[in-house]
Amino acid sequence: MTPQLPHLLITAGPTHEPIDAVRYIGNRSSGKLGVAIAEAAVQRQWPTTLLLGPTHLKPNHAAIQLQRYETSTQLSEHLIAHQPGCDILIMAAAVADYRPITDSQTLSTKLRRDPSCDMTIRLEPTEDLLCAASQRRLPHQTLVGFALEPAESLLASARQKLERKHIDLIVANELTTMESDSIRAVLIDSMGRHTSTPGTMSKTEFAPWLLDHIIALHRQRTCSA
Ligand code: CTP
Repeated sequence: MTPQLPHLLITAGPTHEPIDAVRYIGNRSSGKLGVAIAEAAVQRQWPTTLLLGPTHLKPNHAAIQLQRYETSTQLSEHLIAHQPGCDILIMAAAVADYRPITDSQTLSTKLRRDPSCDMTIRLEPTEDLLCAASQRRLPHQTLVGFALEPAESLLASARQKLERKHIDLIVANELTTMESDSIRAVLIDSMGRHTSTPGTMSKTEFAPWLLDHIIALHRQRTCSA
């Protein structure tokens, strides 16, 4: 019997958390890796939805169902809407951990410069979207996260995140991956197995390599369920 094509839900890129109508707090994620994964998935004819943050990248394939977001709140809304229909969630987005505490009046105007006093921006924590997704998960869904970590604490921090977020696989990679065209990573699954990339790979080579591992894990989980 031919296995059914898995439906992928992929998040990619940074979030922009507004300070006022023209400014935001963001991060240096380019979204390249998530876009490469989505392109590799549609090349296999897998139905793929890509939730893509504020980046100049445009995916090359019309088959990718594309939804754009700017803030972590908008990304959360897309995840709530699209997660029920997916088999595999790949959370490659660099979601802000904190956002400015603001109000609708500030968000509709531009804060003015006052050279006579300091300015303080107060931040509040955002929701952990991957944790929320794992609380909503259906039994057959496989959840994959990323851990971008300093080299010295890479594996220990990635293992902690895998357990804290109750996911099936985490892609541990070093801080230098951000904005780069290449990646060197270790995959850690919930059974404690480690798989390293064969050295440094371009993100377009890495994407199908990662999908091979994810689909093997997904089939193993769903066949043994
Ligand atoms: N993530 C998320 N929601 C957040 C922050 C992160 O869903 N508010 C997801 C990321 O998409 C990634 C994984 O969680 O798949 C790990 O993200 P990372 O930023 O490395 O970890 P944090 O949970 O932010 O923990 P820490 O601040 O300790 O690094």
